[in-house]
Order: sequence, then structure tokens, then C-alpha cells
Amino acid sequence: MTTPTRVTVSGATPYDVVIGRDLLTELPAMLGASAQRVMVMFPWALQELGHAVQASLVEQGYEAYAYELPDAEVQKTAQVAADCWQILGKLGFTRSDAIVGVGGGATTDLAGFVAATWLRGVKWVAIPTTLAGMVDAAVGGKTGINTEEGKNLVGAFWPPQGVLCDLTALATLDRRDIAAGLAEVVKTGFISDAAILDLVTEHAPALRDWDGASASGELWSVLAELVHRSVLVKATVVGEDLTEQGLREILNYGHTFGHAVERQELYQWRHGEAVAVGMVYEAELAYLAGKLSKEIVAQHRSLLDALGLPTTYRADCWEPLLAAMRRDKKARGNLLRFVILEDVAKPIRLEGPEPTLLEAAYAAVSR
Ligand code: GLY
Repeated sequence: MTTPTRVTVSGATPYDVVIGRDLLTELPAMLGASAQRVMVMFPWALQELGHAVQASLVEQGYEAYAYELPDAEVQKTAQVAADCWQILGKLGFTRSDAIVGVGGGATTDLAGFVAATWLRGVKWVAIPTTLAGMVDAAVGGKTGINTEEGKNLVGAFWPPQGVLCDLTALATLDRRDIAAGLAEVVKTGFISDAAILDLVTEHAPALRDWDGASASGELWSVLAELVHRSVLVKATVVGEDLTEQGLREILNYGHTFGHAVERQELYQWRHGEAVAVGMVYEAELAYLAGKLSKEIVAQHRSLLDALGLPTTYRADCWEPLLAAMRRDKKARGNLLRFVILEDVAKPIRLEGPEPTLLEAAYAAVSR
């Protein structure tokens, strides 16, 4: 539990995702010998941690600065990125200097985007502080901001020099955030690693009632293993297909319907909550298309239910959901494309399913 584990993400510049506790001594190896100045970016709610990272960097010989961002998705804007560029310019950040993003997915997306764009690209390290950030957002080099045109439409593939998943950060997360992160964990289980599903099934009651202050040593070990296994799946996929030419699309399981739900809910749902109901929809679609057994569809429902995640959605908004799915990045012209399963760990693509099938899957998840 205290010994960190490591997953290497291969690619043009391979990097490690380290999972454990008290990992800041890993930073110099990730930042490299040439970085002199380091900008640590974090949201207001994580000031204490952000300043601790800055202090640790100063102790380790860097000229380290702290930059506070607005909280949550509000920070992922062109204006906030411009503010970051301005401060980097004032401080004279050069191409050999670096950025560290400390926070949830919105923070690491923004920090990575600023790193990708400053001087056409400087080094950066992600320190995700949410479960969803550790198993998804911070790994794989997708960086970006939201604009009026939509979420994550402006960005760059810019892998970090390393990712530090300090499990201590999970101690203060509330149940809803842990469950939302577990939705992405379950997704990696369904697309690639049945052992994840077994582990989550066995410990679902304790995970659902997550309380970081009183969690048992066993539960912490389970979480560490779930993070490790999920990162391994993601690392394998993005190591092979960084820029989403094909394989990486499987990470979007549950996301076509899920993104439509998020939009319909005006982004008031957690991403993972929308992905949970999205996986049930896409499992029902796979069943209706004759690809997936009823038992695996039922497994989706029972597992996600056991974690307290939504498995149904309101019945009165098919048209806007369909319109939103048509805008999905996987769509080709008028053809909707889904990632579906033939079995656990057997993802395939479903292109242009009949409208009747799409609507019948909606009926199956409607309440
Ligand atoms: N979150 C999906 C991906 O990184 O491709």
C-alpha cells in the first residue's frame, strides 16, 4: 500500500504514472535537469496542497511559483489560459521551464493546455486529486479548454512528463465524487479487464459508503489496485493510439449517450454519473443489435446500482438527446457511431444503428 506502483505510458516520449502516497520526491526526475522555473497551478479549493507542492519544489532546488485558478470547470476558459500565459511571460518562463497542474480533471486539462501552447510546448506534470482525474483525465495527453462552441473543442494532444496519483487526496472526496470516478473504473473493466469488475462487485457496499477518514486498510488497497488496473488499461490504449485514430475510441464506451445526458442536464451531473447511464444505454443497444447477452446488460445495471450510480434517465427528451449524439466526435456525417461490447473486454464499433433500435434502447433506460 505504501510502496508506490508505476505504469509506463509508451509513445514518442514515454512517461510514468506513479500511484501511492507522498510522491513529491518523484517530481525532479519528471521535470528534468533543465527546468529552473516551475509554475504550480491549482484551484482555490486546493490552496493548501498547491502551496505544499510549491514549497516542496523550492526545497528541491527549483524557482517555484504558485498560481491560483478559479474552481471547477469555470477555470477551463480561454480567458484563464490567457491569464496564465501572461504570468508565464512576466516571469520569463522559457522552453526548458515547466508547469505542474494540481487538481481534478478541469485543472489538469487547463494546465496541460497552457503547457502545450506556451512557447509551442513546455514540459508539464499532472497531480490529479480526484479518482476520475487519476484513472482518466490526467492520463493520455488530452488537454483543452471549453469555449462557447462547446466543451473540449479547443485543445491539443500534449502528454505530460509524468502523473503523480497520491491516494491521500481521495481521503477528503465525498461519496458522489468517488462514485463518479468509479464509473470510469467500471468502464475500463467492461472494455478491457474483468478483474476490475470482480473487485468492484466484491467491495461495492464499502465503496458506495466511502468515508476516507474511516476507510479500512483493505479498502485503501482495493482503491489502489483499481487505480493501478484502470491506469494500465488507459496506458495500453493511449500508448498505441495517442491521437484517437482508432483504438482510443474504446475509452468512449458509455460516452455517446453519456455526453448527451450531460448536455441535457446543463452539466450539473458529474461526468461519471452520465457515463454510468450511458453505459447502460449502450449495453441495451448492443443487446438489441444482437451483439451482447442479456446477462451482461444486467451486470451493468447491478454493478452501477450497487455503487449508487444512475442507471435510468427521464423518458421525455429523446429528440434533444438524439440531436446531441449526432454532434458526438465519433459521428461521421449523419452516421452515428457507438462503442459497444460483444462481451466483457470485447469492445467493437456499431455504425449507423437503425433509429428504431436507438429509440428502443432509450425506452429501456427510461424511467
Ligand atoms: N477520456 C477519454 C480519453 O482520454 O480518450
